[in-house]
Amino acid sequence: MARLKVGVLISGRGSNLQALIDACAAPRFPAEIALVIANRADAAGLARAAAAKIPAKVFAHGDFAKRDEFDAVLEATLTEAGCGLVCLAGFMRILGSAFVRRWRDKLINIHPSLLPAFPGLDTHARVIAAGVRFTGCTVHFVREGVDDGPIIVQAAVPVQTGDDADTLAARVLEAEHRAYPLALRLIAEGRVRVESERVIIEGHKAPHGIVVNPAD
Ligand code: GRF
Repeated sequence: MARLKVGVLISGRGSNLQALIDACAAPRFPAEIALVIANRADAAGLARAAAAKIPAKVFAHGDFAKRDEFDAVLEATLTEAGCGLVCLAGFMRILGSAFVRRWRDKLINIHPSLLPAFPGLDTHARVIAAGVRFTGCTVHFVREGVDDGPIIVQAAVPVQTGDDADTLAARVLEAEHRAYPLALRLIAEGRVRVESERVIIEGHKAPHGIVVNPAD
């Protein structure tokens, strides 16, 4: 079966891009990264694309007078590369509603919290300030609201006493690097559908049991 062609949009470090690159390198993985697009020429993730010999393009959003023009270039580039799915991986630019509608249920994002809790920026500092015992990450289909849309995969991560935003971010990032390739695989296998704005996964088994923090 043909592998699903994916476009990955980045703005920075690209560690989630790397997790997707590594997953796609497995011989029977059902997706391939056809293209990486960055909105900043200094995005460190571009070097990861180059090392994996994946075509990459930079479109600096500041070069475009209007959001729609920037989105139109993204759209044309992704379509030309034959992408059937777009993965946002630390892409720090809000996409316009026409783009979001065009890619409905074909555009996914990863966010470092258990959505719908803690959408937006400075997530880990807010998680710590709130005193919650668990946080995690969420891969979701993109809708027009920020960090909003049907949830595909979540991973729970305990908050430890003494965590600061950096130690917590590092623990959550490890979970992100597992969750994003899993979501991509499930979609590429054709096992994910959206019904009434909830995701149904064919043949999916949820983990058993209850996890308690602090451990008892
Ligand atoms: C990740 O924490 C992701 O959840 C968020 O932005 C960060 C990107 O990190 N949306 P990286 O560029 O993938 O390393």
